[in-house]
Amino acid sequence: MTGNTKAAVEFARQNGTRFVEELKALLRIPSISTLPEHAGDVRKAAQFVADELQRIGMENVRLIETMSPEHPGGHPLVYADWLHAGGEAITVLCYGHYDVQPAEPLDEWKSPPFEPAERDGNLYARGAVDDKGQMWMHVKALESLFAANAGKLPVNVRMIVEGEEEVGGEGIARFVRERGDQLKADVAVVSDTEMFAPDLPTLCVGLRGMIYTEIEARGARTDLHSGMYGGTAPNPFVALAQIIAKLKDENGRVMVPGFYDKVAKPSADELKAWKALPFDEEHYRQTEVGSPELTGEPGYSVLERTWARPTLDVHGMPGGFTGAGAKTVIPAKAVAKISMRLVPDQTPVESFAAYKAYVESIAPKGVEVEVRLIHSGDPIVVSTDNPYVKAATEAMREVFRKETVFVRGGGSIPIVGDFVRELKIPTLLMGFGLPDDNLHAPNEKFHIANFHRGIESLVRFFSGVGGRG
Ligand code: BES
Ligand code: MN
Ligand code: MN
Repeated sequence: MTGNTKAAVEFARQNGTRFVEELKALLRIPSISTLPEHAGDVRKAAQFVADELQRIGMENVRLIETMSPEHPGGHPLVYADWLHAGGEAITVLCYGHYDVQPAEPLDEWKSPPFEPAERDGNLYARGAVDDKGQMWMHVKALESLFAANAGKLPVNVRMIVEGEEEVGGEGIARFVRERGDQLKADVAVVSDTEMFAPDLPTLCVGLRGMIYTEIEARGARTDLHSGMYGGTAPNPFVALAQIIAKLKDENGRVMVPGFYDKVAKPSADELKAWKALPFDEEHYRQTEVGSPELTGEPGYSVLERTWARPTLDVHGMPGGFTGAGAKTVIPAKAVAKISMRLVPDQTPVESFAAYKAYVESIAPKGVEVEVRLIHSGDPIVVSTDNPYVKAATEAMREVFRKETVFVRGGGSIPIVGDFVRELKIPTLLMGFGLPDDNLHAPNEKFHIANFHRGIESLVRFFSGVGGRG
């Protein structure tokens, strides 16, 4: 470890409490990207991140607008760089997102989602770990390096932070496609995934893709009295229920014809490595899922089912009467929000086409259905055959005193596919969340020790990843 690395680690340790306080200020901004009424908050969070990048010494800091006629609700990107490392130094592209998921159901939070609270070594707030807290680790690692190196970094750095990850990342995808040259780098580093277990340094090497859809079923011209018309008028909720019942069978198999045609099996080595991971299915069922039984495809382990098999879920069915008490109405229309997680080598385009055609073919008589694609992202697997993986595992070994495990994740980060395809650079998914951090759920948290270990790992990674060689 060079003197500068040591000084940067020391700086991070001495300023750790301040780092957490700053993160709390960011967490107080309810930057919920999917809700139009929060667009102002989303922008505020972007500005907050930009101001800090400016303050620590990054250059060319700016908000990049993504709003356009085709993308009316677009939220800004935050960009910054520092490109004076010189010589053979490589360029690292840091990515994160400052937007968060909605916080509902609010009454299940032990402390309000946008009033960060520390309890038992955890920081509770919406976005604590996904992804404000993890993105902040990057900012604070850079600050520590600047502070310890008289305003210099050991590598060139570009940082791009988006505000639409939780809604599909259309704005950044377009920026990467059209302005990819402005993100030129040797490797991308993303901290938006989890560690496999507490204390176990983890690199994620695969993510599922997804297609998020809506089916709208329309029956009668207008809402009708269910006594006067019940028995003759079609009910769009019943129609959706009949459709949904044909989407997935009791063995967890998606019934869309051709859906599995391109599903690639994980390699024998991967399957063997997954079997060796410290995983207790009963503990997972009780503490993480909390249901009487697990569901899914027989013959596949939990890790295979969540990492390497596609699936389908229903998220909500807006429409009709959902207030307290009773209203006897046959709604004229109803919607189902349905997504599919995809795995290599499925594609969003083919999967959506097959799904749409199937749904249209099974729609019961009396309703018209419209099948819409809300957003999509490709499944990915990233290679581990590069020097950056080695630098990352070495950095984390020094912090955790353990060897890194390689896992996949069941979630999706749509832009990672574009980094690999458009920028043609390897991506490191180096995340520090925990399986029980409650991402997207009430009481989201970040284990504060992991926030600090993440910063230290990143400091050591940036210092150790070195030159192009
Ligand atoms: N950080 C998550 C993705 C994730 C979580 C990957 C845990 C691996 C392990 C990300 O913010 C996320 O939630 N993505 C959405 C993407 C979607 C809205 C396109 C997801 O997976 O639902
Ligand atoms: Mn995330
Ligand atoms: Mn998320």
